[in-house]
Amino acid sequence: MAAQYSTQKQRELYDLSKEILTHKSIPDKPEAETEVNQLHEVIVYHEWRYYVLNEPVMSDFEYDHLYKRLEALEKAYPTLISESSPTQRVSSDLSSDFETVAHLIPMLSLDNSYNAEDLGDFDQQIQKLTKATPPFEYCVEPKYDGGSIALVYENDRLVRAATRGNGTTGEEITRNAKAMKTIPLKAAFSKFGIHKVELRGEVLIRVDRFKKVNEQREKNGKSILANPRNAATGALRVKNPQEVVDRSLEAFIYQLGYAVDKNGENVLDQFPTHDEGIEALANLGFKVPTIERKVCATIEEAAAFCDHWQQVRDDYAYEIDGMVVKVNRIDLQDMCGYTSHHPRWAIAYKFKAKQATTKLLNVEYQVGKIGQITPVAKLKPVSLAGVTVSSVSLHNEDFITQRDLRLGDTVLVERAGDVIPYIVKAMDELRDGTELPIVYPAACPSCSSALVRIEGESVWKCENYNCKAQILRRLEHHVSKNAMDIDGFGEKYVVRFNELGWLTRIPDVYKLDYEAIANLEGFGKRSADKLKKAIDKAKGNPISRLLYGFSIHLVGKTVGKIFAAEVEDIRDLKDWSVEQLMELKDIGPKAAEHTAAFFADPENIKTLDELAALGVNMKRLDSERKQAPVLDGALSGKTILFTGSFQTMKRNDAKALAVAAGAKALSAVSSNLNILVVGEKAGSKLKKAQALGTVDILTEEEFLKVLENN
Ligand code: IVH
Repeated sequence: MAAQYSTQKQRELYDLSKEILTHKSIPDKPEAETEVNQLHEVIVYHEWRYYVLNEPVMSDFEYDHLYKRLEALEKAYPTLISESSPTQRVSSDLSSDFETVAHLIPMLSLDNSYNAEDLGDFDQQIQKLTKATPPFEYCVEPKYDGGSIALVYENDRLVRAATRGNGTTGEEITRNAKAMKTIPLKAAFSKFGIHKVELRGEVLIRVDRFKKVNEQREKNGKSILANPRNAATGALRVKNPQEVVDRSLEAFIYQLGYAVDKNGENVLDQFPTHDEGIEALANLGFKVPTIERKVCATIEEAAAFCDHWQQVRDDYAYEIDGMVVKVNRIDLQDMCGYTSHHPRWAIAYKFKAKQATTKLLNVEYQVGKIGQITPVAKLKPVSLAGVTVSSVSLHNEDFITQRDLRLGDTVLVERAGDVIPYIVKAMDELRDGTELPIVYPAACPSCSSALVRIEGESVWKCENYNCKAQILRRLEHHVSKNAMDIDGFGEKYVVRFNELGWLTRIPDVYKLDYEAIANLEGFGKRSADKLKKAIDKAKGNPISRLLYGFSIHLVGKTVGKIFAAEVEDIRDLKDWSVEQLMELKDIGPKAAEHTAAFFADPENIKTLDELAALGVNMKRLDSERKQAPVLDGALSGKTILFTGSFQTMKRNDAKALAVAAGAKALSAVSSNLNILVVGEKAGSKLKKAQALGTVDILTEEEFLKVLENN
């Protein structure tokens, strides 16, 4: 781990943080100034633990407290606000344009290689250029696929950040860079005699974060960001730095480009290797590749490391499109020099393409288990990152119209972020006029009933519950891994047994005639026995699986578990009203409505009785019970007090809930107080209660859990 802070120093900062957490009133200015400086130091430390190392040592709550304390002191004494204060990361004055700035040294590109042989050639080239004796040491690191940035620090302060632009000049985006907590506002370069330095790096968004951002954008009616790369490059140039915060952009630094002392003398040679330079940056608090970076003794080892990352790239938290192999020794780098396009001492090792173009041949329409229609594009088979792709989901009608896709189009297909391929766009410049519009069907392709599109929703639906396609999808879902998990029972069996007339309803799954199955072509006694065993095992499943296996709209695995925890027998759910279901934590009105409707239908109750008679478990298992309540017997006889503001309810409502659960509400902290529930911006009451040491301190969420468990 980076030695930016010694263990001793970390302990001091931790203790200091804890100490500051007990501060209440606003002190005189001289004292405030000391505390502001301390807060700068501890907040930068916690941000480094959290954002750079991903190993926080304090709760978010405590960190927020420190941050708010700093804000409070700065508010009381505005002259104490300095530019590098952690509170100044997101400045609110919105400027409209970005200025163009010249990079201290040009930001070049990289030459490409695609296999071990290319790397071998590169190694030979290095030998020719340097006339040195092999083997050469290489430092290998990811080729991050985001937006490039150049950071300039002067006098240990971040003074400028710029995009790559055309390589010579870029756009000044300092305000946005400051909003990234992986970019230190101050860094002790002077320790190395460095007065002015330019660093190169790549701004990225985690793939999981990218998906979340898109989900949120979809909810807010904003356009969907095509891929993590666009999400990162786009955010570099946003007008409001808050957007940078919302997308959780991170900067990885991969190059020390330029460093001079006070006299303008180059001081880069104090780092004999690339690896040592990067390590020094890690020690100064920058986020750099760590386990993703390796010093390799030979080009073969470098090739093997590249290949390893090609294998695991899909499991990595960030998008990478290759690796970069760099001559590790700086003196050798200097001997190699540059072309006008790229350094001769580095080469990118490109992974197999995740994008390809192919023809859109046809669109088929699939019917889902709740009748939703999904258009699926049939493509001329094309190889994408090692997998042949011949059909991709088009999601819904809007997806097609937004991209103006047409039959016969050449389309750009991508497998990025996750493994599922999708169509990025149609290459309209390649159209020759023979392309045909995609006509969305008006009727269900399976049962021909008219399709319905509910206002505000993006999908068309077949509303015929007895639609053959839906029946098959529901049966497939019922036996699938996530639901009843019947080993070996998949789509093929469902379709075949259905064709034979043996399987049209869920109870049929448990009534199969294994002798008849054994006599089917391609089966035999052994596979029939195996199937029987798997089905018998499934009969004892937890009721949450059974619930999920009914394909009730919006009742997924988690919701199934929440309902299961509430009842002794799955059929008890018929006595629950929509309102009661909705009162359960994490249950929305729609899921409650669909569930209540399902259990209100006598046909479904009959099906459940039938399943019970067939030996399928209807009773909640012990493992499905709720966890023991946080506070046994909970609120009766307890005294309680609320402080701060709450997210999901008004303070008075919270109080009423507590009283209804048997608690007595107090108005101040005293030795009689049992429970303090803290919301946001909790102040002196929290401190007092902590000082007493006898008060149970609950967050809003914990409090709600206690109520729920009663
Ligand atoms: S070194 C003079 N290292 O790839 C040094 N570049 O095609 C040249 N990139 O614009 C760059 N990860 O933004 C280097 N580990 C890495 C990189 C990397 C991503 C980007 C960089 C550059 C592009 C070159």
